[in-house]
Amino acid sequence: MKLALVILVAGYFCAVSCHHSCLQGPNHKAFPGPEIGFQECFLYAEDSCCYANFTEKLAQSPVIEVDNYYWNRCGNLSKSCEDYMKKLECFYQCSPMTAHWVHPNVSDAVQHIPLCHSFCDSWFEACKSDLVCARNWISDWIIDENGNHCKNDCIPFHEMYANGTDLCQSAWGESFVVSSSPCRCLDMTETDKKVIKYILDDDHSEESSEKKDCKPGLQKPKDKEGEGEEGEEGR
Ligand SMILES: *[C@@H]1O[C@H](CO)[C@@H](O)[C@H](O)[C@H]1NC(C)=O
Ligand SMILES: *[C@@H]1O[C@H](CO)[C@@H](O)[C@H](O)[C@H]1NC(C)=O
Ligand SMILES: *[C@@H]1O[C@H](CO)[C@@H](O)[C@H](O)[C@H]1NC(C)=O
Ligand SMILES: *[C@@H]1O[C@H](CO)[C@@H](O)[C@H](O)[C@H]1NC(C)=O
Repeated sequence: MKLALVILVAGYFCAVSCHHSCLQGPNHKAFPGPEIGFQECFLYAEDSCCYANFTEKLAQSPVIEVDNYYWNRCGNLSKSCEDYMKKLECFYQCSPMTAHWVHPNVSDAVQHIPLCHSFCDSWFEACKSDLVCARNWISDWIIDENGNHCKNDCIPFHEMYANGTDLCQSAWGESFVVSSSPCRCLDMTETDKKVIKYILDDDHSEESSEKKDCKPGLQKPKDKEGEGEEGEEGR
């Protein structure tokens, strides 16, 4: 009973301000905050849901295993493909934004996070010649104490997935959708921190923030990266 109450209360606060919580899961902190000593996932160091020690496992190449989940069941990934795997792993484990999309029934899972079409296409391009045996990397495995094992043959990404959209909407189960908007979407870059306000503010922010927080506008090279609240606000 007490636990149920705690969950209810936590759910209430999440609805009010999910910014102040993290997903559950072995590598997740209770609340996001700055971390010192990141070796990967630098995008999230100043406000992170993972501890810095988690990033050690991702700082090598090839990454072999994270949390008893093996990345090399079809051989080592290419560097370009691995970089995308790392971006997504960093996002899931460390981003303070993910709790906005927590799965209603699974507290360490996310649902329908809007990714940019261009991000998905680039991910597909980076991995298309790499090999993969699971279409859904969350469920399509035989799992035992030695981790995940292929159920099916290893085939190239470009045979497993039709295109970037298919990859984004299949590989992590229901975690991601490809946004129909080039503005309201995440692409695992610095600009996500601004775009997220626009994504979450969906109802009452039409024209003004359309310009200010639209992804392509933010990515024009005139801003220095990592300037925090500065940027185009003065325009
Ligand atoms: C990582 O660091 C956190 C906080 O310092 C600690 O609680 C946790 O046990 C560490 N995990 C590992 C695997 O060392
Ligand atoms: C995969 O990477 C590991 C670690 O660097 C290396 O020992 C191994 O030979 C590589 N495997 C293949 C098939 O290249
Ligand atoms: C969550 O669980 C409820 C009750 O079992 C179910 O009806 C619903 O479809 C589930 N939601 C999702 C997104 O899986
Ligand atoms: C991607 O593949 C899916 C599934 O085959 C298809 O329905 C969709 O039209 C394709 N999208 C693009 C942009 O080619």
